[in-house]
Amino acid sequence: MDSVIRDISLFPSGENKIEWVRRNMPLLNGILADFEREKPFAGLTIGLSVHLEAKTAYLCRVLQSGGANMIVTGSNPLSTQDDVAAALVHGNWESTPMHVYALHGCTAEEYEQNIDRVLSHTPDILIDDGGDLVSGVMDRFPALKAHILGGCEETTTGVIRLKAMEKAGVLPFPMMDVNDADCKHLFDNRYGTGQSVFDGIDRTTNLIVAGKTCVVAGYGWCGKGVAMRAKGLGAHVIVTEVDPVKAIEAIMDGFAVMPMQQAAGVGDLFITVTGDRDVITAEHFTHMKNGAILCNAGHFDVEVDVKWLREHARERRDMKPNIEGFRLDEDRWVYVLAEGRLVNLASGDGHPAEIMDMSFAIQALSARFIAQQGRTLEKRLYAVPRDIDEQVARQKLAAMGVKVDTLTPEQAEYLQSWRV
Ligand SMILES: NC(=O)c1ccc[n+]([C@@H]2O[C@H](COP(=O)([O-])OP(=O)(O)OC[C@H]3O[C@@H](n4cnc5c(N)ncnc54)[C@H](O)[C@@H]3O)[C@@H](O)[C@H]2O)c1
Repeated sequence: MDSVIRDISLFPSGENKIEWVRRNMPLLNGILADFEREKPFAGLTIGLSVHLEAKTAYLCRVLQSGGANMIVTGSNPLSTQDDVAAALVHGNWESTPMHVYALHGCTAEEYEQNIDRVLSHTPDILIDDGGDLVSGVMDRFPALKAHILGGCEETTTGVIRLKAMEKAGVLPFPMMDVNDADCKHLFDNRYGTGQSVFDGIDRTTNLIVAGKTCVVAGYGWCGKGVAMRAKGLGAHVIVTEVDPVKAIEAIMDGFAVMPMQQAAGVGDLFITVTGDRDVITAEHFTHMKNGAILCNAGHFDVEVDVKWLREHARERRDMKPNIEGFRLDEDRWVYVLAEGRLVNLASGDGHPAEIMDMSFAIQALSARFIAQQGRTLEKRLYAVPRDIDEQVARQKLAAMGVKVDTLTPEQAEYLQSWRV
């Protein structure tokens, strides 16, 4: 197999991690069985760029079981787990080896080369997380525009990039907005990010959250989850926002709201999750308390200006893996986790398996939709069909052993009528 990975001998540990998540992803298990029967991707090559850890690896195997030739890379240099990449290249008794181009801790240049290696396989379908595959097609592989059937985008930041392409009239093929399916953002962005961000922070810092002032930048789906869990852990929570409606929502949820300039001086732990750039910069660092800890959970490492710290700090020190200390003046240090990249993936294993079971069920079923309908769709960003969302919700409830009421015919009619 042509692949670029760290070390194939790491495969046993990766295989165990994939087996662990498989045992906790019942929706994907069911989809795998369906795909094995139906083979919706027979003869198709899928290029995938998603944070390459065990849950993603299992998604790759589910798609492969549907007949896809899988070409895989990660979507962030720090979230790739080398043992998991090795397991995919090695394969096992039920999964054939895949082409994988992913290295933990690779440079920006190597990262782009790996995106390009995936695109060099002339994929028919793209599964993207943050938009780097689609951007690679636009910038460096224009000949693929006419070839690719379509694709799926996993996260808010990627959807923003696709919407900008659609608005400019340059979106090259149909894309499915997986992020905005209810069974994705309501659970993954909110509960997944909420829990896994603190998992990443805890295992990296080994410090207490209770009693600290935690500043959460952005009160979107992810920010709501992060603020909720910070409160649950006993932090005093401050939210910063630019959207007045979200700011009111944060106030009514019981949080203090103020500009970052003001929060900078009182926060102990800062978590950015806006999808925006320059959220914490030099003008804020200069106000921060000694010992302030900064991290990011937004898709790109543009929210905290780590570059400025590296260039202007009087001293830089690696405190322990994934904690960089910067001395700003005589005796004032601030600490950045995971280089300002998504702390839950760069310093942890990402979202819990049960959450990614739902997100990746939406991904897998949306990819099948593209395989079946791609040629008939326009070059637009499509919402995930409602029946896919509802199917995933029903299967999740069934997996949880929860039953719900159903509408009687009279109720269904009443809810569609203008007569009372
Ligand atoms: N870490 C993860 O595992 C994970 C999971 C899902 C999404 N994401 C990423 O997290 C980011 C946020 O996603 P989301 O779904 O919450 O998006 P969202 O659009 O629901 O929320 C973003 C919020 O940030 C606010 N905002 C924008 N600029 C700001 C600024 N300068 N200061 C303060 N607030 C600002 C917006 O008003 C909005 O309310 C995206 O980059 C997304 O791709 C990360």
